[in-house]
This record gives sequence, structure tokens and C-alpha cells, in this order.
Amino acid sequence: MKKLNPQQQRAVNTTEGALLILAGAGSGKTQVITTRIVPLLKDKRVPAENSLAVTFTNKAAREMNERVSGMAGQLAKGIVISTFHSLGVRILRRDIRALGFKPNFSIYSSSDQAGVIRQAVRERDIDPKAIDPDQILWNWLPPQFIPAIRSCSKASTPSILTTSSCSRCSCCNRQPPS
Ligand SMILES: Nc1ncnc2c1ncn2[C@@H]1O[C@H](COP(=O)(O)OP(=O)(O)O)[C@@H](O)[C@H]1O
Ligand SMILES: [Mg+2]
Repeated sequence: MKKLNPQQQRAVNTTEGALLILAGAGSGKTQVITTRIVPLLKDKRVPAENSLAVTFTNKAAREMNERVSGMAGQLAKGIVISTFHSLGVRILRRDIRALGFKPNFSIYSSSDQAGVIRQAVRERDIDPKAIDPDQILWNWLPPQFIPAIRSCSKASTPSILTTSSCSRCSCCNRQPPS
């Protein structure tokens, strides 16, 4: 274990209650956070699966994982150290059935999303000039498509309903909302 300075040591040994650590870049905050997990697991017997550490980048999460595994070994098995994004996905994959979706969903980037809208527009012979994918993504629709455009939860691509019934949507016979 790296030798910590007194302030870091104090933070690491403060295992009860909330702790806010404010310090400059490269001054050893991550070192404190990762080291502090060890007495929580070893001395306080906090189960690893009840422990969570989140950070912003994959690189930081990887480093924290490596540091904690290096210090706590098997005791750290089951701990979740991840980015905010991957924690969100983890929770969604576990619980999204509660919202009626399957957990094997994909996540589309903004450009993937615009591509899907363009594809859906092409497949339905809609004049692409009449539609700006970004405006659809931001919930702005040209008046002629309101309220006939809705995504279908069962479709692999968004279904654009241009007629009074869902005749072009191959996945279901849902009526467009009136
Ligand atoms: N007390 C210390 N003595 C020596 N090196 C340290 C100490 N605390 C942290 N470091 C090292 O300094 C570098 C930056 O630490 P890090 O915890 O990543 O900083 P921060 O998260 O505040 O940016 C790392 O390589 C870390 O191992
Ligand atoms: Mg850091």
C-alpha cells in the first residue's frame, strides 16, 4: 500500500458517515477513495456487493478496479466500480423488464439515432427533405406527421405511422394515437 500523507490517512480511516474530499488534480483523491474501500471491506466487513464506486471515465474506473483488487484481493470480489454510464446500463439491464422492455437492448449514439430515423423515413417513402432527424429526436415534428408518428416498442427501428392505421408497421397493428 502506498504511503499516504496525514490528510489522506485521516480520510481513509474515516469509515463512518459521509465524507467529502476536495483536493487539486493529481493530489491523491483517487488514491484515498480506493484505499478507503479496503478497511471498509476488511475491518468493517462491508460486503463487496454492497459497495459501489463511480467515476467519469472508463480509464479511471479501470484504474480504481485494479487498485482495489490489488489491495483487497478476493474480498473485493463482487464490488461495483464503474463509470456513471455503465452503472446506469447495469441497472437498466437488470430491471428494464419492469418497464416492459427486454434487457438485451442496444444503446445508440446521437448519430446512430439520426441514422435510424433516416432509414425509417426512407423505408416509408417519406420525402427526406420534409424531416430533420435531429428535430424528430428532439421531439419536434413537422405538423403533417403529428400525431401519426410514434415509435413502436416492439419494432427494431422506429415506426413512422403515416396513415390512419399502422399499415406500414410490420411488428404490430397498433393504431396511431388520435
Ligand atoms: N501520498 C502519496 N504519496 C505518493 N504518491 C501518491 C500519494 N497519493 C497519491 N499518489 C500517486 O499520485 C498519483 C495521482 O494520484 P491520484 O489519486 O490519481 O490523484 P487524483 O485522483 O487526485 O487526481 C498516482 O500515481 C498516485 O499513486
Ligand atoms: Mg482521480
